[in-house]
Amino acid sequence: MRGRLLMVNGPNLNLLGRREPAIYGHSTLAELEEMARRRATELGCELICFQSNSEGAILDFLHDRAPGSLGVVLNPGALTHSSYALYDCLRALPVPVVEVHLSNLFARAEEFRSRDVVAPAAAGVICGLGPRGYLLAMEFLVDRDE
Ligand code: DQA
Repeated sequence: MRGRLLMVNGPNLNLLGRREPAIYGHSTLAELEEMARRRATELGCELICFQSNSEGAILDFLHDRAPGSLGVVLNPGALTHSSYALYDCLRALPVPVVEVHLSNLFARAEEFRSRDVVAPAAAGVICGLGPRGYLLAMEFLVDRDE
């Protein structure tokens, strides 16, 4: 076992599959987590998945579970555009975080989506590649640890 990866999804991502499928696709969160778990197994890792609509619950989870892991794959949802608390949290973590977005934030209609206050604290950002973004982020975190 190479180690543990975390996959964290923020507000409204529990609605995947029925939430604006033209933008976010038809897969449910459970399906994305299952796909990611399979890839983690192939990579020789354990994957712990967490989703919350609450900023505080996400911070508490990261504080508790990120230390000792290989890193975090994080889709912060709309917290991306507003949460300095999440930015500070990522800066304080002892492990890398790859930020993932299903949609291309820079191609979205709303102007606020291209403002990302969390990204400066991330190792990198993958956006617009749909569910594959989560897998690519996991591969990066495992590769960089070798
Ligand atoms: C999202 C993009 C955000 O702007 C939005 O608030 C989400 C999902 C994405 O995965 O494309 O909830 O993070």
